Amino acid sequence: MRGKDFFREMEALAKPLAKQTYESTCESYSSLSDDQAFRLLAQLWFIEAPVLGNYARNWWNTIPRDPTGKYRDVEMFLSRQLYDESRHGKLYADACIRKGFVQSDQELWTHPYAKPVPGWLNFTMWLEHLGGFNFTTLYAGEQMASECLTFPQLLKGAIEVIKDPIVRWVFEAQWDEEAFHGMMGRYVVTKYCQSQVQQDEAAWAAQTTWRLLGEAAIDLNKFIKDGDVTPRPAIKNDPALRKPRRLSG
Ligand SMILES: [Fe+2]
Ligand SMILES: [Fe+2]
Repeated sequence: MRGKDFFREMEALAKPLAKQTYESTCESYSSLSDDQAFRLLAQLWFIEAPVLGNYARNWWNTIPRDPTGKYRDVEMFLSRQLYDESRHGKLYADACIRKGFVQSDQELWTHPYAKPVPGWLNFTMWLEHLGGFNFTTLYAGEQMASECLTFPQLLKGAIEVIKDPIVRWVFEAQWDEEAFHGMMGRYVVTKYCQSQVQQDEAAWAAQTTWRLLGEAAIDLNKFIKDGDVTPRPAIKNDPALRKPRRLSG
C-alpha cells in the first residue's frame, strides 16, 4: 500500500494507547509532591540528555549516504531534532536547579533518581537499537509511533494537570518541537516507507514501541508515586532458564 495509507493504518491502531496515555498521565501527575516531581523530571531528563544526546548517535547511520543529496530532508530533520532534544534535557535540568533539587545539571548524571527504572531503560534502549535499522523503521518506531501518535498525549496531560509552574513549564516549552518531531515521523513514513518489506518492519517497530512504552509508563508511575521500582520475576522462574542448554548437549 502507499506510505500514506500505511500511516493511516498505524494512526488508527495507536488510538486506544493514545487515549490511555492521556488518562493515566492526568491521573498520575495531578498531585505531585516535590520529591515526586524530582523523580519525574530526573527520569525524563535521562531520555533527553544521555540517550538522545549521546547513545543514539547511531541514528545518523540509518540515513543512506547518497551522492545526489536525495535524503537531505531527513538529514536536516535529524539535525534539528537532536538539537531540540538536547535543549529538552536542559529544560528538565534547569527545572531541577530552580526547584533546588540539584545545584548543577552535572549532578544529574550520577544521581540515583536519574538512573532509569527497568521499563524506562528498556524503552529508551529500544530507541537506540532502532538506529541499527533502515531509517524508515527508525522513523516509524520513534518519530511516528511515539512522538506523533502517543507522546503528545503525555505532554497534553502533563500541561493540563501539573500545578507547580516550574515543573509544568518544562512540558509546555516542548510542545511545539515535539509536534514537529511527530510531523517528521509522518512525513518520512508517508514519503519513504512505500514497499511491503519496509512496511512490515515499520509495523513491527511501531508495535514494539507501543508495547514497551506501556510497560515503561507502569514502572515510571510506580517509581514516581511509591519511590519504588516494579518487582521483576525471580530469575529462576524465567522460562529461558528452565531447561538450560549445555555445550556438551
Ligand atoms: Fe524531547
Ligand atoms: Fe522529540
